Amino acid sequence: MFPLGKSKSTVGLDIGASSVKLVKLDHSKNGYSVSAIGVRELPPEAIVADEINDREAVIFNIQSLIDQTDPKIRDVVVSISGHSVITDKFTIDKKNGPEAEQAILFETEQRAPFDVDDVSLDYHVIKSDDETNKMDVLLVAARKEYLRTYLDLIEDCGLRPVVVDNDSMAILNAYEGNYDVDPSRVTALVNIGHDVTNITYIVDGLYSATRDVSAGTREIYNAIQKEFRLNPELTSKALKGEMNDSIDPDMFKATIISASDELVSGVELAFSYFKSQSKIESLDWLVLSGGGALIPFLPEYLQSKLNIPLELANPLRNVDYDPELFQYLQPEKIAPLLTVAVGLAMRKAR
Ligand SMILES: Nc1ncnc2c1ncn2[C@@H]1O[C@H](COP(=O)(O)OP(=O)(O)OP(=O)(O)O)[C@@H](O)[C@H]1O
Ligand SMILES: [Mg+2]
Repeated sequence: MFPLGKSKSTVGLDIGASSVKLVKLDHSKNGYSVSAIGVRELPPEAIVADEINDREAVIFNIQSLIDQTDPKIRDVVVSISGHSVITDKFTIDKKNGPEAEQAILFETEQRAPFDVDDVSLDYHVIKSDDETNKMDVLLVAARKEYLRTYLDLIEDCGLRPVVVDNDSMAILNAYEGNYDVDPSRVTALVNIGHDVTNITYIVDGLYSATRDVSAGTREIYNAIQKEFRLNPELTSKALKGEMNDSIDPDMFKATIISASDELVSGVELAFSYFKSQSKIESLDWLVLSGGGALIPFLPEYLQSKLNIPLELANPLRNVDYDPELFQYLQPEKIAPLLTVAVGLAMRKAR
């Protein structure tokens, strides 16, 4: 959202609480193709929500991921999320240049829970209506101090952040880059991460709103670790279905389901809030992404509780790649996990 440079291929780097994901896409007239891809898990407490507790570990893991995938990478598109970032949409009278900026700054002041002088702003006009003389503006605002700390971390990895986006916009970007948006369906893109679940709503085929729910899969991870007395490495393996021989399947399912309550009710609450705010009767379609989409039983459980048709996001649906190249990773199996990184990498090469 804050453009800072140029390139032909684009690298999306998604630094999450449980792992760092990297996707490099080559942009051509024929579309996108993957030229590098990688995931590296972080120590369990290195990042909690948007707090970086162990900076050294995060830097080490990002550098190792770059070394494993493509050591020549310098320019990256990164994303920020959490309490220091707000995304909002509003309608104002049509204006241009400095006048538009003034009006947008005024609207931001009404919305941001922090002083606008401390804020970096970016905005897009998503719809402009000549008849009513109004325009819909999408705003992203981030606290400068938070942005600086984050950019310093990327730079200390030896990388150059060329664009800073946010998770909810990246998810939308990945969806629009891979699917024909059906304007007749009110759609929620739900990205379940380790600490945060980002929801992006699409109404009439256009971006409508976003909401971050402060719950993710960490509860599930912790419950599995405790129930089966596993170390972090084995906990991750269990969640990937690689421990099926040594743990009781009924107990495994029951543990996941009972640890999902906070997440499910957080999403339920966000949906009813959105429906009442936007005066929408029903949500018609869910597209699930993030690591949460891969946790056994979770998508089915979510669907049964919410009673809304659901599909798993495939952010590589419209993207060319040679499966042989990334064999050990099997991108098609972990595609939902890569959604934010793909959305970041789909940013237009400038
Ligand atoms: N292949 C897999 N199968 C099952 N679960 C997985 C798989 N890969 C990751 N997970 C689980 O997904 C969860 C993390 O999801 P994700 O990577 O989207 O979160 P994050 O981006 O690191 O966190 P956040 O966005 O909250 O900062 C973890 O609990 C992890 O165990
Ligand atoms: Mg994430």
